[in-house]
Amino acid sequence: MNVDAWFPLAVASRELEVSAEARAAMLADLAPSVAQAAAQRRPGVAWTGDVNEAGGLHRRPAFAWLCGEIAREARAFAAVLGCEVERLRFSYLQTWAVLCGPGEAVASHTHRGASLSAVYYLQVPEGAGGELVFECLSQPNWLGRGFGERGSPLGATSNAFNQREVSYRPREGRLLLFPAQAPHAVRAYEGEELRISITFDLGITPAEGGAAEGDPFLEG
Ligand SMILES: [Fe+2]
Repeated sequence: MNVDAWFPLAVASRELEVSAEARAAMLADLAPSVAQAAAQRRPGVAWTGDVNEAGGLHRRPAFAWLCGEIAREARAFAAVLGCEVERLRFSYLQTWAVLCGPGEAVASHTHRGASLSAVYYLQVPEGAGGELVFECLSQPNWLGRGFGERGSPLGATSNAFNQREVSYRPREGRLLLFPAQAPHAVRAYEGEELRISITFDLGITPAEGGAAEGDPFLEG
């Protein structure tokens, strides 16, 4: 019997090389946010710059090199997904830092309103949890209660047809890109040192006749 597999979620990843100077400049730029987060700490909840009036990182010189990488990777990813990138306008809708202290997490959410989202891991202690988890809420092959769950009465063999989620272990220097409407969450971070990631919400619109939104990518 042949069984076809359809409708995969696409997540792109790339390990970025960064100089010690460029990394130090980004960390220095985020020092006020780190201080703000320390003062606003809420148990179990990561601090995110988008809801704390600390967005717009793409306009700051310390992040210019990272924006260049994002611009390149976002175009390449959109091309893989079948977009005619030469006819499109790419823009930054919002950019912000996510600061995770011990025991902190980010609940499941989407970035609706954006086209693509990206995360860059700036400071990530190894082996300390905080995985980025993508969730398959639609469960297109659902056969009944417990389907795809561990210990299910329907059986416990995990495969691509019953998979409910996939997790990415954060790694310093890694860039991930994904469709902005994909539901995702950050599992509890278990390290001691502050974990710092940068999030990008990107817009894609037709270059001709499309409504301009956000700040356009600089052509590199
Ligand atoms: Fe997110």
